[in-house]
Amino acid sequence: MAGKLMHAVQYYGYGGGPAGLKHVEVPVPTPRKDELLLKLEATTLNPIDWKIQKGILRPFLPRKFPHIPGEVVEVGPGVKSFKAGDKVVAKISHAEGGGLAEFAVSKENLTVSRPPQVSAAEAAALPVSGLTAHQALTQGGGIKLDGSGQQANILVTAASGGVGHYAVQLAKLGNTHVTATCGARNIDFVKQLGADEVLDYKTPEGAALNSPSGRKYDVVVHCATGIPWSTFEPNLSPNGKVLDLTPSPSGIATSVLKRLTFSKKQLLPLLLNAKAENLDYLVKLVKEGKLKTVIDSKHPLSKAEDAWSKSIDGHATGKIIVEP
Ligand SMILES: NC(=O)c1ccc[n+]([C@@H]2O[C@H](COP(=O)([O-])OP(=O)(O)OC[C@H]3O[C@@H](n4cnc5c(N)ncnc54)[C@H](OP(=O)(O)O)[C@@H]3O)[C@@H](O)[C@H]2O)c1
Repeated sequence: MAGKLMHAVQYYGYGGGPAGLKHVEVPVPTPRKDELLLKLEATTLNPIDWKIQKGILRPFLPRKFPHIPGEVVEVGPGVKSFKAGDKVVAKISHAEGGGLAEFAVSKENLTVSRPPQVSAAEAAALPVSGLTAHQALTQGGGIKLDGSGQQANILVTAASGGVGHYAVQLAKLGNTHVTATCGARNIDFVKQLGADEVLDYKTPEGAALNSPSGRKYDVVVHCATGIPWSTFEPNLSPNGKVLDLTPSPSGIATSVLKRLTFSKKQLLPLLLNAKAENLDYLVKLVKEGKLKTVIDSKHPLSKAEDAWSKSIDGHATGKIIVEP
């Protein structure tokens, strides 16, 4: 592939939103040691992509421009575990970017096989949203997804979004009762995902996060933003914990304070630590029909700006997919 050009979408500086994206022809990347060259079949956007463009992680990311944002899926010449032509799904590094392009590179240790029963689009959504929901419930919340654990009451906020829709489904594989929040238009959708009770976040009860059945939450997978600790606190069981996917400065301060004061109720920031074994587990669940990727919309790479706008708007139901 050396010297061959490909279509890619990049941005060259902070800010600009969808208008800051440029369609360019750039060389197909060359895989380094322990990397695969992937021909992308589908990729997905996550809020972190446009947040990095806004500069939220400045000065750490991007370390150099142009950055090619996006996340994964693919086929490609492999290293040891894969061979040319294998169908795979991979988590691409946020630091490197590269998902909004015809080809990308992935690390072998963050790449897993994709069986034919799982489409590229279904698989593409798993590496960030699926793994985050999985990590929050299992590592953060201690939920056993084989149902063998003690019964637990779970709250999932923004259950209609990319992470939330996986969190509801995964939680129901465990021994859990799930309360979920979403907008009125998505109540039936979230019930179909398996939620036991659903709150419209724009009603007083929804804004207060009060479980209709009076339950106190043992674990909160907090995918929404802007909800203060004072709203969570009265709704938690004595050892309840809130796993905060989007920690604000005040949230981090509350989290530190809770730890310093040995509070049994905890607010814990969560940062995805992607692991291939967990990605493999999620792919198998999709194959077995136990987990589904709900697709909000599909956009061609030539109209990546539309997907970018849609993600920034924050009203997706499920995942936004981009296809070459
Ligand atoms: N820490 C990590 O490693 C990590 C990993 C992945 C994601 N995240 C973060 O997690 C957050 C969620 O990500 P995502 O991909 O799930 O986002 P998303 O797909 O863009 O979420 C959109 C959905 O959220 C719903 N929503 C928005 N505000 C809500 C509220 N207050 N209550 C209930 N529902 C609400 C929207 O419903 P309506 O249209 O009805 O408003 C929409 O369906 C983002 O901030 C993201 O950056 C963090």
